[in-house]
Amino acid sequence: MRIAKASEAIGATIEDVDVTRLSDQDFAAIRQAFLDHGALFIRDQTLTPEEHIAFARRWGAIDLNRFFQHREGYPEIAEVLKEPDQQLNIGGGWHTDHSYDLAPAMGSILYALEIPPVGGDTLFAGMAAAYEALDDETKQRISALKARHGNAHVFGKDSKYRKAVGERYTNADQAGQTAVHPVVLTHPETGARGLYVNPGFTLEIVDMDPQESRALLQQLYDHIGQDRFHHRHKWRAGDLAMWDNRATWHYALNDYQGHRRYLNRITIEGVALH
Ligand code: SIN
Repeated sequence: MRIAKASEAIGATIEDVDVTRLSDQDFAAIRQAFLDHGALFIRDQTLTPEEHIAFARRWGAIDLNRFFQHREGYPEIAEVLKEPDQQLNIGGGWHTDHSYDLAPAMGSILYALEIPPVGGDTLFAGMAAAYEALDDETKQRISALKARHGNAHVFGKDSKYRKAVGERYTNADQAGQTAVHPVVLTHPETGARGLYVNPGFTLEIVDMDPQESRALLQQLYDHIGQDRFHHRHKWRAGDLAMWDNRATWHYALNDYQGHRRYLNRITIEGVALH
């Protein structure tokens, strides 16, 4: 097995490994790489749904996603699908999966089944690197702040986005819950500090004037939006990507109109964040 850094701020590529036949030692090395790099891109896997689920269970209990259509017969597997005649993709903006939950999913494991001939890359951003690069005054300003996250504007029945995504999203009636998390979290496993707000699901900074809250969030988003904190993953069918939702953002690019893109995602349960 070969593990190589994918970019300075985030990600590692893993080659020459079959995740269906991992020794405990190899699994421990992959787990350490996940904590060190925030995202993993494991090449050349051939997985049945059962093998995808079995690999996910080595990381923890599976978090059943309530808003994505699941693969038939496999409630654990959320489908990330865009057909050639569909305009909108899923995840086409910077976000962190499940940040609207009280105990957000710790990680997401995405397996690529069909990838368009060109385009369809996913961008990842590293939240620890972005936090470390902030100036001391901003670090001080945000150190004790909390932010509210929610999902009604994405998955709720009145969401224009949900309507455009159509039957690929389900359970609109279950959307609407919100959760408050620190703006700067201490990673529950590594202890590293990282930014934990995202354009997809963060609604506001708690106890702050709305205009000031919008300005501060925009300032943080502009900072994280710098290329130096990013990695661009060019998918191949058979890639298995896994990212740490406590340490990353991601953004699925929608630049492959007229082509099919189909991936399967499993999310792993997490803990409350502090
Ligand atoms: C997602 O947001 O989980 C989807 C990412 C992707 O399709 O690359």
